[in-house]
Amino acid sequence: MSTSNVTNLLLLGSQSDPLSERGVTCAGEVPDASDPELVSRARVARAALGDRAIILGHHYQRDEVINFADITGDSFKLAQAAQQQEKAEFVIFCGVHFMAESADILTSDKQQVILPDLAAGCSMADMATASQVDACWRTLTDLGIASQTIPVTYMNSSAAIKSFTGENGGTICTSSNAKAAMEWAFTQGSKILFLPDQHLGRNTAVQSLGLALEDCVLWNPWKEMGGLTAAELESAKVILWRGHCSVHGRFSKESIDDVRSRIPEVKILVHPECTHEVVTNADVVGSTEFIIRTIENAPRGSAWAIGTEFNLVSRLAKAHPDKNIVYLDKTLCYCSTMNRIDLPHLVWVMESLVAGHVVNQIKVDARVKQFSQLALERMLAL
Ligand code: 13P
Ligand code: SF4
Repeated sequence: MSTSNVTNLLLLGSQSDPLSERGVTCAGEVPDASDPELVSRARVARAALGDRAIILGHHYQRDEVINFADITGDSFKLAQAAQQQEKAEFVIFCGVHFMAESADILTSDKQQVILPDLAAGCSMADMATASQVDACWRTLTDLGIASQTIPVTYMNSSAAIKSFTGENGGTICTSSNAKAAMEWAFTQGSKILFLPDQHLGRNTAVQSLGLALEDCVLWNPWKEMGGLTAAELESAKVILWRGHCSVHGRFSKESIDDVRSRIPEVKILVHPECTHEVVTNADVVGSTEFIIRTIENAPRGSAWAIGTEFNLVSRLAKAHPDKNIVYLDKTLCYCSTMNRIDLPHLVWVMESLVAGHVVNQIKVDARVKQFSQLALERMLAL
């Protein structure tokens, strides 16, 4: 079941709940967030699991969850970490659904990947469905341009889209290796279909590869022929999918101007999922892991306005009191789906494993796994 279906189910309710029919129950069993014993329950369950489990935590997770992560990272580092796990029977993935799917694809069949809350999806990943991407590819095939087009798919996509990518000679990328992935793709073909984040695709094409904005066209999956003409599709070097991140899409040139007017010599540091206007007006651009390294290496007393998810920015501000770190927007914005993973859900999955029940396992269909693994391994080899 896709995350959007799970989300719909949770929103709309259902007489017969397919999750509980599959033994995936949750309501009423997750400890109360105000349980004063929660942290000690988490410690006890973690100790009882020992080497049988590894906890991977994305940098956008809440502090209460990240405190229990054995490995923290951005989506690239966590994919590598999942691939390198040989011993752990259980990989508890504190991140979102597409990351847990990728971990399942990259781990062995003996290992089980667990997502503490199945409603932790990603709105960007949901913006490219398998049938929409198939329809786009059929159009490119009919126009005779699919054979020169290499799909480059951002990690933030469903396993089905990763499988499409692998099957059609493409690679996955993350925000830390999008440049290398696009460069590789141009050695394989003359055109790229970049899915599903238009901003990462455009920013990388223009800022890192030196292409012109006019070399990129935007495919709207809700319009006939993506809203483009055959001539536009034929001459484009990069076909960008019309998807975006609702968290990074909030930052604007106005917020940059505002911060610059308030804080002398402030440097603007943003994630490449931000709009092209924000990225071109920023001082430094890079992935989550890059943002962390930049702040770690920054001189004492320097001032930074950071445009990425709020949990990470607030942790960086706490960890570096000798630097002036502010959030780039006036309105604080967490990633609501990342935030669904909280300590009660983590305790629930760990205690369930201790009691011998595997809950919330993420298992990618074997047929989908074959080509999505190929696409992910191409990325890890870049
Ligand atoms: P990275 O982990 O690649 O920086 O991506 C950020 C993100 O939005 C994850 O969902
Ligand atoms: Fe998706 Fe954006 Fe949240 Fe990342 S931060 S999980 S891209 S909605």
